[in-house]
Amino acid sequence: MTNGNQPHASGTVEPGDTSKRVGMETLRERGVDPKELREKLIDAISAEFASTYYYYTDLRMHLAGHEDYKEIAEDARLEDRAHFELLVPRIYELGGKLPDDIRDFADRSSCPAAKLPDDPTAENILEELLEAERCAIRTWSEVCDMTEGKDRRTFDMAQRVLQEEIEHEAWFVELLSMERDGEVNPAGHFVRGEPGEAPLSTNRRINDSA
Ligand SMILES: [Fe+2]
Ligand SMILES: [Fe+2]
Repeated sequence: MTNGNQPHASGTVEPGDTSKRVGMETLRERGVDPKELREKLIDAISAEFASTYYYYTDLRMHLAGHEDYKEIAEDARLEDRAHFELLVPRIYELGGKLPDDIRDFADRSSCPAAKLPDDPTAENILEELLEAERCAIRTWSEVCDMTEGKDRRTFDMAQRVLQEEIEHEAWFVELLSMERDGEVNPAGHFVRGEPGEAPLSTNRRINDSA
């Protein structure tokens, strides 16, 4: 093999140039603005970490006496943290960074904080959890739309998260239907094998399969 005629041996980034990334240039060539995308991702993972993981901790504790609800809320809580962890490296790959101050980070969440309701009944808490999952579905659907067919890496991550968010919505539809209306409205799922298993979205599992 002689060097010099391989089609991808060089491109728009000069050899040895660390101020640019081919992984970003290829996105621009395909119509994705890496800056716009990474800022959207920071808003989205703020929703995972600040608006849900943190607040779900409080919501879960106030489900005391409803141990089945607590278990499901715990799975959703830990999986939302896994979603934060999954996307953090992608923000740096796209030339971005986490805000220096966690207050700035929390303020830019793409979803409202899942705060403990004034009247913290199981019904009210389940409704809070349900609406938080719905906001997450809308958020990750938008990221999928921005990246599908153009940024395979972000798309792969976002669609893994989206699948789990759709499962989370189904869990809380089932629980709220029974708690509030006495209605059987199955999620179609059983509990995770391990708390917060995140079957599609853990960093380690993706890396293990690489
Ligand atoms: Fe999530
Ligand atoms: Fe979720």
